[in-house]
Amino acid sequence: MKIIGIGGSPRKGNSEWMLEQLAFYLKERGAEMEILLLRRLDIKRCTGCLKCEDRSGKCTQSDSMNAIYPKLLEADAIVMASPVYFEMISGLLKNFIDRTCPIWTKLDGKSLAGLAVAEEGIGQAMRNIQQYGKVCGMKWTGGVGVLAKNPRDTAQDEALKKKLKRLAVKIAPEG
Ligand SMILES: Cc1cc2nc3c(=O)[nH]c(=O)nc-3n(C[C@H](O)[C@H](O)[C@H](O)COP(=O)(O)O)c2cc1C
Repeated sequence: MKIIGIGGSPRKGNSEWMLEQLAFYLKERGAEMEILLLRRLDIKRCTGCLKCEDRSGKCTQSDSMNAIYPKLLEADAIVMASPVYFEMISGLLKNFIDRTCPIWTKLDGKSLAGLAVAEEGIGQAMRNIQQYGKVCGMKWTGGVGVLAKNPRDTAQDEALKKKLKRLAVKIAPEG
């Protein structure tokens, strides 16, 4: 199965570590997750032109999304990881979501899982990811939220590792 992991933090922090750890557990089950770190990619802002609606699913802009659209369309499962900013997902992840406008109707039936990290409270962030999936007709596999502040704070959290391992089983039940 094809799994795409989207890293929505502007830093090499906790949500990125969770995504890497999840990829490790998926690999143990024989499933590969390709991780796309939004902080490393050239993804312009959605201009809101809505031309994608009458350009047969194509965006007028040319950037890293050109190569990402086919990956999303081929994926069986998508995992979105975000730091919690003002109790919502990061702007980086939200812009990525907005840029999926040319293909969102074709994500129907795929699986979606979420990872979120906050210092004090997850707020609406997991629900933001879930809501995106609902709009697109995706199946919610589950989410793992955790409290952490500084990069790598999560790396010693054994309970978190167990939750990620359980999520890997849900994402790739057959391996
Ligand atoms: C702009 C900004 C807004 C934040 N807002 C919240 C918040 O509303 N609630 C919270 O608990 N933590 C908040 N935090 C803390 C981050 O969620 C926390 O540092 C988290 O570990 C970041 O994830 P990352 O390491 O994956 O980047 C905020 C951090 C930043 C930079």
